[in-house]
Amino acid sequence: MAPKIIPSQRMEQLPYYLFGKLNAEKQRRREAGLDIIDFGMGNPDMPASREVVEKTLDVIEDDKAHRYSRATGIPHLLKAAADHYKLKYDVDLLPEKEVIATIGSKEGLSHLALALLGPGDLCAAPEPYFPVHMWSVVIAGAEVVNIPITDNAEELIGSLEKLEQKPKAIFLNYPHNPTGTTVDLTFFEKTVPYFRENNIIAIHDFAYKDITFDGYTAPSILQVEGAKEIAVEFFTMSKSYNMAGWRCGFCLGNAEIIHLLSRIKSFFDYGMFTPIQVAAITALKGDPQKVADVAAKYEKRRDVLVDGLARSGWIIPKNRGGMFVWTQMPEAYRGMGSIQFAEWLLDEAEVLVSPGAGFGPAGEGFIRMSLVENTQRIRQAVRQINRVLKSES
Ligand SMILES: Cc1ncc(COP(=O)(O)O)c(C=O)c1O
Repeated sequence: MAPKIIPSQRMEQLPYYLFGKLNAEKQRRREAGLDIIDFGMGNPDMPASREVVEKTLDVIEDDKAHRYSRATGIPHLLKAAADHYKLKYDVDLLPEKEVIATIGSKEGLSHLALALLGPGDLCAAPEPYFPVHMWSVVIAGAEVVNIPITDNAEELIGSLEKLEQKPKAIFLNYPHNPTGTTVDLTFFEKTVPYFRENNIIAIHDFAYKDITFDGYTAPSILQVEGAKEIAVEFFTMSKSYNMAGWRCGFCLGNAEIIHLLSRIKSFFDYGMFTPIQVAAITALKGDPQKVADVAAKYEKRRDVLVDGLARSGWIIPKNRGGMFVWTQMPEAYRGMGSIQFAEWLLDEAEVLVSPGAGFGPAGEGFIRMSLVENTQRIRQAVRQINRVLKSES
């Protein structure tokens, strides 16, 4: 008899990846020759810039670049991230103490949960949630409490006040995945003093900081005076610079929290490959217009999708940021449940979307469409979706 493989108890608490089944279905259909339009995962479809690719090729030729790199980020990279914050947000950061490089922000976020949270601790995660904000806490052995996502500071504080136990930390994420909720600086100006007074660590996931539309600019939590006493912010090269597969991100802010993250990471990894770190410097120092052009592409895609679906009476409010369209399912389908609706759209319209239920119970009744197909394919998807919605009505 083969020996039995027994997973840790921790694994029993983790759900099976809800999007896995739909992705497998997409793959199966593509292999059968169907042209499935993929609005599923938020995986940018555009490449990194030529100068970033060429810099990588240059550095990779240097034999010395093949050794383990500096795990927390090479000094020039940390300085480039700090300089970026000074230029864009007028925030002063000490590169060696208040900035750390991470292997994408997902790695940093989940290891930070391990460094800050454990049994007996409570962490607040607004719902619907980006799965890491929920499950990294569970893996750390702490408890999560879900509060409703909001752009209203008083409402957020009200939700925290109602809790029986004060949370030790809170995940924030504006522009928010999946809902596209955005805030202005006043939101942070009201919430940061509350976090400081109540000793609640604010972990702001700023993944979509540059993907903003209609003239809106997303604020950094670190712009608020005193935020560094209680907050850190994560940003990533994945979306703004189309470097998702390169795995490069940063955590910035409170020096003690950065130090804790650096300590725990030293047990797990040796940091990023040096050529990637140098490439990231090139990207950060590059022409900001390139980043604006990326955002403009997502904005155009949002408009094509939302305006197109409106033609069949599916009215969706336009988000000011993020790379997703998040919407309630059309009224006639609400009884169906988001998973079944996504399966139906895949069957009938050959379009893959993410069911809202994958982002927690509060996401039920909604779907998320990632803007990772070009405008021509989005127009095609709109025709296919509108056709099946009309034929059913
Ligand atoms: C809110 C949010 N945070 C973090 C990430 C992960 O980004 P990274 O590629 O830096 O790990 C994503 C990716 O989709 C995201 O949507």
